[in-house]
Amino acid sequence: MEDLFGHHISYLRVSVTDRCNERCRYCMPEEEQAWFPKDETMTYEEMARVVRVGATLGIKRIRVTGGEPLTRPGIADFCGVLTQTPGIESVGISTNGTLLAKTEGGLTLAEKLVRAGVRTANISLDSLDRAVYQRTTSRDLLPRVLEGIDAAIQAGFDSIRLNCVLMKNQTERELPALVDYAAQKNALLRFIELMPVSTQEVLREDNFLPVATAKKLVEQTTGPLIEEPDFKTNGPAVYHRVSSTGQRIGFIGAMTNLHFCETCNKLRLTSDGKLRPCLGSYLEFDLRAVLRAGCSDAELAAFFQNVVARKPKEHDFRHNYQPNRRMIAIGG
Ligand code: 5AD
Ligand code: SF4
Repeated sequence: MEDLFGHHISYLRVSVTDRCNERCRYCMPEEEQAWFPKDETMTYEEMARVVRVGATLGIKRIRVTGGEPLTRPGIADFCGVLTQTPGIESVGISTNGTLLAKTEGGLTLAEKLVRAGVRTANISLDSLDRAVYQRTTSRDLLPRVLEGIDAAIQAGFDSIRLNCVLMKNQTERELPALVDYAAQKNALLRFIELMPVSTQEVLREDNFLPVATAKKLVEQTTGPLIEEPDFKTNGPAVYHRVSSTGQRIGFIGAMTNLHFCETCNKLRLTSDGKLRPCLGSYLEFDLRAVLRAGCSDAELAAFFQNVVARKPKEHDFRHNYQPNRRMIAIGG
């Protein structure tokens, strides 16, 4: 599928729930807890069908997100259905890490995911300081996340990425410890600019730390970072290597990188069944209604193609964008 601006769509983010066991300041305000009612939440069967039809149209990679996807019962089995879908080449999961070490039937959730064929785990890690972690996520769960990261390493994912959302006057002093920790765990560390996707007071100019500043600060401890324009994961991260050690670090300049949207390959499916062509646009299309009205696979395919045709050239975040859906309800 190709849109009007030459974006090739091959990647679908599937949000399986809007619920989460944390309350990150930039994602899900503590007070706002109006979950989608159960009957408005997509069933696993419905989501699997969307992926099956998407795969016939060129969707090759899936990322399962939330809310926190591991809070939804049966998540590993669902991932197994996705990895077995013809045309799907890779399935990854984005998680806050708190439940990866939880055991079910003698296996950790991380092991269950790997057995189901999930290849990559993106784990949020904003801080290695327990108090700062608690302040950011409103939960004192850093020790559990660190256990979760170890469980993920033991389980044998192909790749583990640690995602840190940059916050001014907070992340600066954490950078050296995060870089060291990622090196020690052989995980790919990525820094993400804060995006206006929640309604919270935290999304203000004075909390914003650009990736360029973060990079300079990292270089103060690691020495020069050399850009690797040819290394790509699925998304818009730009990667660099520490010249002395070879450690790779990614920077996701959602706000300041003017080329950010040029290589966009994504669509998003929300847990209440809306197909969204762009994270930073109000556009969304009610796939659930069409599904529940009994559409055929051909109609579903046509729906996908219409959404792709409406995909904007770029996100609207730089134009005084006012969020209308919490990040948690979009799926990162
Ligand atoms: N800006 C940037 N990243 C965000 N995430 C959640 N909310 C925001 C935001 N406002 C990130 C989380 C997680 C991923 C799913 O999305 O840190 O890594
Ligand atoms: Fe939960 Fe992730 Fe949102 Fe934090 S960023 S509240 S862990 S979904």
